[in-house]
Amino acid sequence: MPLSLTALNAFDRDGYLTQENAVSEESVQHILTKLSVFGQKSLPGHIREKNSSNYRAFHGCHLYDEDFAALIRNPQLLGPAKQLLKTDVYLHQLKVNLKQPFSGELWPWHQDYIYWRNEDQVPSDAIISVMIFLDEVNEFNGPLFFIPGSHEVGCVDTPKAKEAPEGWEGNVSASLTYQVDEALVTTLASKRGLFSAVGKKGTAVWFHGNLIHASPPNISPFERRIVILTYNAVSNAPIPSTTNQRPEFLNARNHDALQFI
Ligand code: SIN
Ligand code: MN
Repeated sequence: MPLSLTALNAFDRDGYLTQENAVSEESVQHILTKLSVFGQKSLPGHIREKNSSNYRAFHGCHLYDEDFAALIRNPQLLGPAKQLLKTDVYLHQLKVNLKQPFSGELWPWHQDYIYWRNEDQVPSDAIISVMIFLDEVNEFNGPLFFIPGSHEVGCVDTPKAKEAPEGWEGNVSASLTYQVDEALVTTLASKRGLFSAVGKKGTAVWFHGNLIHASPPNISPFERRIVILTYNAVSNAPIPSTTNQRPEFLNARNHDALQFI
């Protein structure tokens, strides 16, 4: 179903939008089955937590798996992506963030677009993500926190964090490369409050590339698995570069407009 005008306006105002029952129980189940298979192999783009051997994330699954390839073309997701960006889109990035029981580590306060701008040369911030809940996400298992409306501050230039690992690994670790400093988070959150992105399995939450967000560790005994798809306008694809390109599982090489399945 297309997003209503009220929903589109809410996204513009808040920088995020929740859609319940966006993905069917059956599709979620197929994806969960695939994850248990991926977990048995070490594939490119699979990364582990710093302090345990548990997987933290699987990147680029749509490049080798048909259920993920179908998910990015699912009209329930591709339709709103085209509506929100008002044009044809390609998929810039896909990741499954696993946040496993007891060991899933945090994500510090950050914006996403700075990574696509600085690392991939994506020209404008008209780029959006949608996360799909593969488990119920609640206050216990490490939900994302948003600062409502914080996308309006634009892309905040931040120096590389000293403690971040070198290279692309720093872009996906608990010691992130580009973090928003605590003073700005305090100022914005004092004015605008915080929103905790929780909901049932199959819920989709859209968020703007400049929305400031973070998530706490998962110290609960329950899994918190989500898929995050990043759609970008075809016209906003990275400026071609022959040097220092991040791997394809973080920076898509195929910028063709996606078609519905
Ligand atoms: C992200 O900010 O990209 C992911 C956060 C999370 O998985 O909790
Ligand atoms: Mn992020």
